[in-house]
Amino acid sequence: MTEQLLAGKTGVVFGVANKRSIAWAIAKAWGAAGARLIFNYQGERLKENVEELVSEFGEDTPFYPCDVSTDQEIENFFENVRGQTKRLDLLLHSVAFAPKEALEGDFVSTSREAFRVAHDVSAYSLVALARAAAPLMSEGGSIVAMTYYGSEKVVPHYNVMGVAKASLEASTRYLAYDLGSKKIRVNCISAGPVQTLAARGISGFSSMLKHYQERAPLKRSCDPAELGQTGLFLASDGAAAITGQVIYVDGGYQIMGM
Ligand SMILES: NC(=O)c1ccc[n+]([C@@H]2O[C@H](COP(=O)([O-])OP(=O)(O)OC[C@H]3O[C@@H](n4cnc5c(N)ncnc54)[C@H](O)[C@@H]3O)[C@@H](O)[C@H]2O)c1
Repeated sequence: MTEQLLAGKTGVVFGVANKRSIAWAIAKAWGAAGARLIFNYQGERLKENVEELVSEFGEDTPFYPCDVSTDQEIENFFENVRGQTKRLDLLLHSVAFAPKEALEGDFVSTSREAFRVAHDVSAYSLVALARAAAPLMSEGGSIVAMTYYGSEKVVPHYNVMGVAKASLEASTRYLAYDLGSKKIRVNCISAGPVQTLAARGISGFSSMLKHYQERAPLKRSCDPAELGQTGLFLASDGAAAITGQVIYVDGGYQIMGM
């Protein structure tokens, strides 16, 4: 059992779709460490799934709709959050989307619309959510976002999502600068490949996983529980002087040159 590192803290979790979601793994680690959590769900399609999952934290666990591509939904979500708590300490951003066709062909074929949507949902949303959460983080806070190595090196098929992750990582640094004086820290976890719903949208995903098993120093990628523990560390006071960083949880793959 994890020591109650987050006792008395309240967090919002964006990005639970099902039990394989990375957001769910981090939420479980935050919850086990004593944090009280409030969840989003993307739309009616996911409501039942998310309701069933979050009830593991107790029948009255709050969860509200929020499509992050809509300012109005973000406003409504935080209005609901303010009805639940006066103070927030943690925010998890574990949300990404790009149209399927943009993750299949050549990057050069990316349409203007696919580029816009990928950046809006996967990168701008961090800025919008941080802006909405910051006024509630009156005693400081920790914002954690999920990213991937395709932001810095070419990973075939990852395409526009890699470019959006580069934007997410740069946004993390600018947000860390802006919010640092309020003691709000903003960091990314760069995860190696994990089998999730979002991963299924990337063509050639199983060969990515195999590649990590062959090339990473630890001969594997990572498992969701390990992402949970890194999320817990970044949320805790142990990481009080860490902000604007990208932490790799990828079996060491990122250090390799060939
Ligand atoms: N699975 C991997 O291999 C991997 C590796 C590195 C980083 N990541 C990142 O981890 C994060 C979580 O992905 P996952 O793998 O857990 O998959 P997932 O499909 O379980 O989670 C993606 C989430 O994004 C949400 N989402 C998409 N569009 C949205 C919108 N418009 N509004 C609100 N929510 C929206 C979905 O509802 C879902 O909950 C993503 O940022 C992803 O890029 C995943």
